[in-house]
Amino acid sequence: MPLTTTPSPHTLRYVKDEEDGCAVLKVKAAFAYVGLELKTEICGDGDNLAAAGKGIYLTCPASKSSNSPATIGQSAAILRYVSKLSPYSNLYGPGSNYSKSTVDQWLDFCRAELDVPNAALKASEEPPADLVKQVKDDIAKSLAIVDGHLTASTYLTCNYITCADISLACSMKSISSVPDSLANLKRWFDTIVNHPKMSAVFGTGSSSSSSIPPSAPVDLGLQMSGVPPPVAPKLYKRNRLRIKELLSSPPMGSTVTVCGWARTIRNADAGKLLFIELNDGSTSLSVQCVLKESTTGFEESKSNRSGGTGASFEIVGEVIKSEGAGQSIEILVIKSTCLGAVYGGDAEGKTVGGSKYPLSKKGHTLEHLRNHAHLRPRSKVHSAAMRVRHAMAFATHKFFNDNGFLYVHTPIITCADCEGAGEQFGVTTMFGVDPHKTDIKVPIVEEEKKVEEKADEAKDGEPKKGLSNKAKKKAEKKAAALAKKAAMAAAEGGKPPEEKLPPGAIDYTKDFFAKRANLTVSGQLNVETHCCAMSDVYTFGPTFRAENSHTSRHLAEFWMIEPEIAFADLHDDINLAEDYIKYCVTYALEVCRDDLEFFETSPFGEKGLIKRLENVIAAPFKRLTYTEGIEVLKKVVSDGHKFEESKIEWGMDLGSEHERYLCETVFKKPVVLTDYPKDIKAFYMKLNEDGKTVAAADILVPKIGELVGGSQREHRADTLHSRCLQSGVDPKAVWWYMELRKFGTIPHAGFGLGFERLILFITGLENIRDVIPFPRAPGLADF
Ligand code: 4AD
Ligand code: MG
Repeated sequence: MPLTTTPSPHTLRYVKDEEDGCAVLKVKAAFAYVGLELKTEICGDGDNLAAAGKGIYLTCPASKSSNSPATIGQSAAILRYVSKLSPYSNLYGPGSNYSKSTVDQWLDFCRAELDVPNAALKASEEPPADLVKQVKDDIAKSLAIVDGHLTASTYLTCNYITCADISLACSMKSISSVPDSLANLKRWFDTIVNHPKMSAVFGTGSSSSSSIPPSAPVDLGLQMSGVPPPVAPKLYKRNRLRIKELLSSPPMGSTVTVCGWARTIRNADAGKLLFIELNDGSTSLSVQCVLKESTTGFEESKSNRSGGTGASFEIVGEVIKSEGAGQSIEILVIKSTCLGAVYGGDAEGKTVGGSKYPLSKKGHTLEHLRNHAHLRPRSKVHSAAMRVRHAMAFATHKFFNDNGFLYVHTPIITCADCEGAGEQFGVTTMFGVDPHKTDIKVPIVEEEKKVEEKADEAKDGEPKKGLSNKAKKKAEKKAAALAKKAAMAAAEGGKPPEEKLPPGAIDYTKDFFAKRANLTVSGQLNVETHCCAMSDVYTFGPTFRAENSHTSRHLAEFWMIEPEIAFADLHDDINLAEDYIKYCVTYALEVCRDDLEFFETSPFGEKGLIKRLENVIAAPFKRLTYTEGIEVLKKVVSDGHKFEESKIEWGMDLGSEHERYLCETVFKKPVVLTDYPKDIKAFYMKLNEDGKTVAAADILVPKIGELVGGSQREHRADTLHSRCLQSGVDPKAVWWYMELRKFGTIPHAGFGLGFERLILFITGLENIRDVIPFPRAPGLADF
């Protein structure tokens, strides 16, 4: 039964003796993890704690389904309850019965193998020495079992923390320190207790009042009216095992089907054996498939028949332990079917062979891969980047949904220029669809002859088609009506008449949208409309900038995440951005570990990547004003450092060399610069009291420079109007945006994060063109 969100907190009741025990710690940690408020209450024996049998009891607030508060005893039951309370936290696994049972299994293990023996020791003040030894030995054996299990997995059951991990970590915390010899267990334990959401609880485990700050039940997400159903397709069933699943929990001895593309095919044992290294993109790893001469499909799988690297296969075979180095399992093939050979034997693609296959097995430069963007998903580096990209998109939606943000799809075609920089791609149908057409006539605004002139012409009889008196009167009447409408619109702030373009300009009134339309540079102006009605919202979509930048940080088409928070100021905005970036980094470290390890060692990646990412989440970002930043840079220059632009002065737009120096060299962490001069920022940013700066914040990160640009919005109608005029933005062109300030204006703020720059930051790759499937840049729109 779904539990509805309720503002009243849960209360954990127990007697003083329980305070330092692991049961209380388990509940506190679980609540901290899902971000729900928990009160604690220390009771006396007289408070009928299950008629003084004692223990711990969670009093749950009344829910819609039952009007009276309920009570749950026992930590394992409470942990299950918390998981259901916050389904998006996945504390009970991804939702399948199998995963739930494994979580249960570990919860039972914890209780039986650690908590009960430990309680037996504590039951008497001076337990007999042989009992102490026995219990210690038993616990050591149990810990060794867990250590062995953690050799092959990061967490106990899934790719992420479940209540089983929380339970076990709490049990261990109250037993003893983890022996150094159990390296896997130690690594796992440190991960759990240092998890940003729980470290406070583990650090203050003995505090009598809950150390969890009261917070909104964040992980309940933008709950509509219930819990989403589990993802369990009924009709679709994959007729193969993904290689990722095969390698993460190999069904030893079973017969499986896998499909994919050969990374290499090689002969061994004088041609009697064939090894196909098969990859299907689900992981950077491949599975080795071993074919014997007697295997069905042996001949057709050989390189001379299949073309070798790049050929596609369906393989049926038995999963066995591998004797070879470099892999723990392999498939002993029963049947191999070459689905698609590589026709790379000649330039025309008529003969089978690999010599002309652009991704033959030797290493390639990133430039070569970019030139074969249709095939580069088969390369290790691009497929790893795409998996991280997917994970970051997923993490983005999870972060905002679980924090109660509504996803708004803002338009891609717009008539407004949000950033006011005029770097927009036009959208028109005026040139038709035939690229060979030669007689294109673009409609031009014609000089409008004055009514009087036309009348005079009519009088003189030249030109013949002048205006009659009747027509003149009609035209005058129409002009007067238009003028009146314009005056009224200006007075009331309603929709003004269309801007008049000078003669000779392209007449967009004849175009598809009856006005000049562009691809959007940002969804912000549109998303603000929903923020000013539905509170916290975000948009996440493609944006386009026609700037002639050829740098490794700029694209003409890039994706942007733009949250907009209602009833909020710049400080809230920065907090949200810092939380969001740290969430993405944490998510990548937990979910994309394999790929991050690949980038750590890849020549295209970054040595020390994982450590750098861990540092990002470990400490608060450095925050300082633009003015302070300028002072720091001036000092850096006076100390002898040379920038390409070393003339540092207040009012300048910082270059990426300055931004990177601040975060890479001066502060060695992400830096938030705030309160920029108004003249270098967009019209919509809130003017500060000083009249010189605006409430803007850019987040600068090592390797990239600017990752986030945000601000508190100018919500005062008059100030926004004058900021428009100062910035050269015609308020009439954004009349609807201005009206948000007229009808129930609110303080609000938001930011934009460049998604590809985030992927660069997470993967350590250098060039933005390598983290988007098909990059768009000046002169580059192939594929
Ligand atoms: O700083 P920008 O221009 O901010 C805006 O567009 C605001 N309307 C956002 C908002 O407040 N809702 O762009 C935001 C981010 C930059 O910090 C940068 O990460 C990225 O978008 N970005 C680009 N990424 C790739 N290629 C380009 N040409 C980019 N231009 C900006
Ligand atoms: Mg910016």
